[in-house]
Amino acid sequence: MTAPYPLGRPRRLRASVGLRRLTQETTLSPADFIAPLFVEEGTATRTPIASLPGHSRLTLDLLVDECRELYSLGIGAVLLFAKVPDALKDNTGAEALNPGGLYPRAIKAIKAAVPELVVMTDIALDPFSSYGHDGIVEGERIVNDATVDVLAQMAVVHAQAGADVVAPSDMMDGRIGAIRRALEAGGYPEVGILAYTAKYASCLYGPFRDALDSAPGFGDKQTYQMQPGNAREALREAALDEAEGADILMVKPGLWYLDVLYRLRQATPLPLAVYQVSGEYAQLHATADRGWLHLENAMWESLLALKRAGADLIATYFAKAAAQGLQR
Ligand code: PBG
Repeated sequence: MTAPYPLGRPRRLRASVGLRRLTQETTLSPADFIAPLFVEEGTATRTPIASLPGHSRLTLDLLVDECRELYSLGIGAVLLFAKVPDALKDNTGAEALNPGGLYPRAIKAIKAAVPELVVMTDIALDPFSSYGHDGIVEGERIVNDATVDVLAQMAVVHAQAGADVVAPSDMMDGRIGAIRRALEAGGYPEVGILAYTAKYASCLYGPFRDALDSAPGFGDKQTYQMQPGNAREALREAALDEAEGADILMVKPGLWYLDVLYRLRQATPLPLAVYQVSGEYAQLHATADRGWLHLENAMWESLLALKRAGADLIATYFAKAAAQGLQR
């Protein structure tokens, strides 16, 4: 037991900046951050994303410049998302397997220019799907096993292009094991898997789907993403992903799921990531725009909350701003 008042006065350690810094339990570093980046076809063009203030879809040349800057800021990794032209979308995700597609070219360009920067890529069919779903559609159903076959091939295409880590965000059953086996068989045993382990069917992905024009054409994603009321189920997903060979587990979204993050922290020795998603970022910006909270303070407090709850790594649209802030 700590001493009771007046011998014990917790305020003693809050009395100055120096004391507060000395006793701060949770700290942030640029190396904690994974910066999501959006890439599109073309050259020398940045297309601002209205729903993600400060973010744009970048053509390859500008993407590489951005990666140089993020690397110089000490950012831990980038996480790539490609905007696929409608003409290349179909139900089977054929373009996702094109070694000359936008994704593989983006990976190669970054690894050629900034070889030390960790490149992570999203594995799911939604940007490639004419239905905007993460898997292959049959009637009204999203079929699991046929989708997993394509995702495993997609992971090998990204590995071939030089990706360090593939990040399956689709929530199909068995995909981590299938991807792991495909990477081994394909000669890429060293490529890591960051599993979207507990990815919830959340309203908070809206701004992201605007950015990639990837909203589902019918229905929603509730037959594959987790329902918001469930936390124990996240432990089950974590056990499966771990057994299937995941290297890093992730919870998504972040702030509304801190309890899930905390539970997974107790349950796994693996590194744990969290995704502060587009809707979380957009909420803070919109509120700050009205003058109802201070954006930079909200950024620090939200990032600290995610780290304190158990995240080692934070995928966040604040990555660059926070890394810049930490340099000051
Ligand atoms: C694709 C994917 C999504 C996000 C990351 N990967 C959208 C979705 O599942 O509908 C959302 C990220 C964000 O909102 O910032 N499967």
